Amino acid sequence: MEQSFSKDFLWGGAVAAHQIEGGWDEDGKGVSIADVMTAGGNGIPRKITDGVLEGENYPNHEAIDFYHRYKEDIALFKELGLKAFRTSINWARIFPNGDDTEPNEAGLAFYDALFDELLKNGIEPIVTLSHFEIPYNLYKTYGGFKNKKVIDYFVRYGETVMERYKEKVKYWMTFNEINNQQDGEYDVHLWTNSAVILEEGDNKEKIIFQAGLNELIASAKVVKKGHEINPSFQIGCMMAYVPVYPYSSNPDDLMAANKLMHRRFFYSDIHVRGEIPTYTLKKWEKEGLNIEYTDEELQVLKEGTVDYVGFSYYMSNAVTTLPDVKGNAVKDYPSAKLVSNPYIQSSEWGWPIDPVGLRYTLNLIYERYQVPMFIVENGFGAYDKVEEDGKICDPYRIDYLKYHMSEMKKAVLEDGVDLMGYTPWGIIDIVSFGSGEMEKRYGMIYVDKDNQGNGTLERRKKESFTWYKNIIATNGEEL
Ligand code: BG6
Repeated sequence: MEQSFSKDFLWGGAVAAHQIEGGWDEDGKGVSIADVMTAGGNGIPRKITDGVLEGENYPNHEAIDFYHRYKEDIALFKELGLKAFRTSINWARIFPNGDDTEPNEAGLAFYDALFDELLKNGIEPIVTLSHFEIPYNLYKTYGGFKNKKVIDYFVRYGETVMERYKEKVKYWMTFNEINNQQDGEYDVHLWTNSAVILEEGDNKEKIIFQAGLNELIASAKVVKKGHEINPSFQIGCMMAYVPVYPYSSNPDDLMAANKLMHRRFFYSDIHVRGEIPTYTLKKWEKEGLNIEYTDEELQVLKEGTVDYVGFSYYMSNAVTTLPDVKGNAVKDYPSAKLVSNPYIQSSEWGWPIDPVGLRYTLNLIYERYQVPMFIVENGFGAYDKVEEDGKICDPYRIDYLKYHMSEMKKAVLEDGVDLMGYTPWGIIDIVSFGSGEMEKRYGMIYVDKDNQGNGTLERRKKESFTWYKNIIATNGEEL
């Protein structure tokens, strides 16, 4: 039996362009959908404004100024021992309005310099094409991905960057957490996944599925083109896997969990298998959703299947149909509700912490698809304190990561799943996506900036930095 991770295992760190770069209007960059999202707070949702408005606080505009400081940060990543760095390309840097016919050379040059710097330091770039950075104009003029025209703009963008960086980037993903837009209550995901805002009287289910299918078609077209551009490209999908457990052994709870998982699997089933699953076709038929697609598009889905499944893992959910348990109602199964799992604690933001769920998820996906997987996000958002002597002790983060990585190790070494790598989220402190806060910190490198935007932006190593450095250096043997 294997005793440790393979020597090529990609130990890394992950971020997204809009949460780290800043320079939101520099060198010809257009406005992206992240640029019109205000700062919220713990429990306070972010607002989406109609364009960039005077007097609002938009935390992504400066973020942590990686745009100007990437060399200094990459030097720290090298010291940490990272073998891979996951980031995204900000689409609006390359095609400022999304529908431009020619790309913005200054934007392309920035990512040339960034990838060169990573490679020079022995760090493999892992690149997401669309991580909540759709050009704002594609919403304003076309209504986002519910409009099929946007498929072509995404393909033009994907082809442009894959051609440009074909000698520098081997690992790609198309849409970040593409399935998030299924999460009914939190409409901001429809915005960040698809640049869609619902209007009075809209059929929400129809729009969710139409926009999602259009993205899946766009993804398949780009995967196909990418493989033509460079056959050694590894192109993955990117899913938010939040496994749903039955709360009780009541068979109805098990069935409810299964139906909720269909809402996630719809996306990865198409990405990996190239076909719209029958459970979805039945649902569309039953609800009369009239989702539009052509035979040619169905063929494209088959021809553009992904090489691996990239996914984020933060938490698990539980569902029940038992009448005496309180929870939030869900669609797709009569009287089902999402409920708290009594065996699991939560973070200060109410996110359930479930390391065993990561092992379960790795097994679940591998059994379903039998393709390599890549954990491209996992981590713990927490408030950190700088001690008087300047130290930042974060044992809670080390614990979270240690338990998750140990479960990951069991999945690889004991269960035999095929895992390419692990890039914990927010390797350096960045702007939180959900809350827009700086103080919901995931990093192993501290950034001196608070929720109001005050601070020197100075970088400092946390205790977790030294801990993770040792994990990488020993290839996970210390876990
Ligand atoms: C994932 C996203 O949903 O979770 C990231 O891909 C995000 O962009 C991360 O930052 C953590 O969420 P949050 O809201 O704590 O930043």
